[in-house]
Amino acid sequence: MNAGIVGIGRYLPEKVVTNADLEKIMDTSDEWIRTRTGIEERRIADDNTKTSDMGLAAAQKAIEDAGITPEEIDLILVATVTPDLPFPSVACMLQERLGAKKAAAMDVSAACAGFMYGIVTAKQFVEAGVYKHVLVVGVEKLSKATDWNDRNTAVLFGDGAGAVIVGEVSENRGILSFELGADGTGAKHLYQDEYIIMNGREVFKFAVRQMGESCINVLEKAGLTKEDVDFLIPHQANIRIMEASRQRLELPVEKMSKTVHKYGNTSAASIPISLVEEIEAGKIKDDDIIVMVGFGGGLTWGAIAIRWGK
Ligand SMILES: CC(C)(COP(=O)(O)OP(=O)(O)OC[C@H]1O[C@@H](n2cnc3c(N)ncnc32)[C@H](O)[C@@H]1OP(=O)(O)O)[C@@H](O)C(=O)NCCC(=O)NCCS
Repeated sequence: MNAGIVGIGRYLPEKVVTNADLEKIMDTSDEWIRTRTGIEERRIADDNTKTSDMGLAAAQKAIEDAGITPEEIDLILVATVTPDLPFPSVACMLQERLGAKKAAAMDVSAACAGFMYGIVTAKQFVEAGVYKHVLVVGVEKLSKATDWNDRNTAVLFGDGAGAVIVGEVSENRGILSFELGADGTGAKHLYQDEYIIMNGREVFKFAVRQMGESCINVLEKAGLTKEDVDFLIPHQANIRIMEASRQRLELPVEKMSKTVHKYGNTSAASIPISLVEEIEAGKIKDDDIIVMVGFGGGLTWGAIAIRWGK
């Protein structure tokens, strides 16, 4: 049995905060942010919108897109580092609000690699034949974890949600290979105490190396080569890090998803948000080979190679 993605959805808050808006509240410039990160604007959720509200909106779309009912969901995995509360999990909140009566539910804490951890976990349950439909949500309200007085981090992040349904797909399609990893010795470079604390240069070096290696590793595990890749969806943290992965795969610019300029780094939400954007733009066709790759605090990383289609 092959597990793949059978439904997709996303949600982004309406409020746009541009680099020019940030110039008014901190010592930064549009020029610095664009050239160092590729970010032009980000979405910020209002005070009344919680992580669970954004996750719910994305999940509802993914369920509808999959053509299933909430009662058909067996497991809900929510990748987030900005849950509404320490507990209950956002996954349990969604279980109730969706009416997913028979679903088990838990959150996944792997920072910006959380969606990759979620999707790989979902794959195991589906391919073992024990669950038919797993809802995987990546959602963050990073604006509440951001120190708006710290220009080193405040310019980087945004809010949003993406969701997929993982279920059985036809032979040859679906998730072909994966890699997950962690290196707790790097925890000091990126963590949240009250707010997000980051050693940008160390995280940058780690990300460039790990993203490229994980891309190559999942291709090898799937018996594929760089030439087989039709599309790359990297975690949208910084255009320079994304470009390094693209160059490692020797892909042309138009074959890499880029949403970082519009949404900034939405952590666990960035890969599923980008996936939905590319599908809606008609850039991904059935049987395309797609590599998704993420990295984040922990340090953590994860990647999959997937042959698209149901
Ligand atoms: C954060 C990052 C963009 C910084 O880019 P960089 O080229 O490494 O910049 P540096 O760290 O060398 O900083 C250069 C200068 O810009 C300053 N600076 C930092 N943020 C700034 C901002 N928003 N506006 C203007 N100047 C800023 C620094 O204070 C530093 O000044 P100094 O040299 O006088 O001390 C980059 O390191 C990065 O993207 N790292 C990875 C972060 C990441 O992806 N995090 C999420 C992981 S999921």
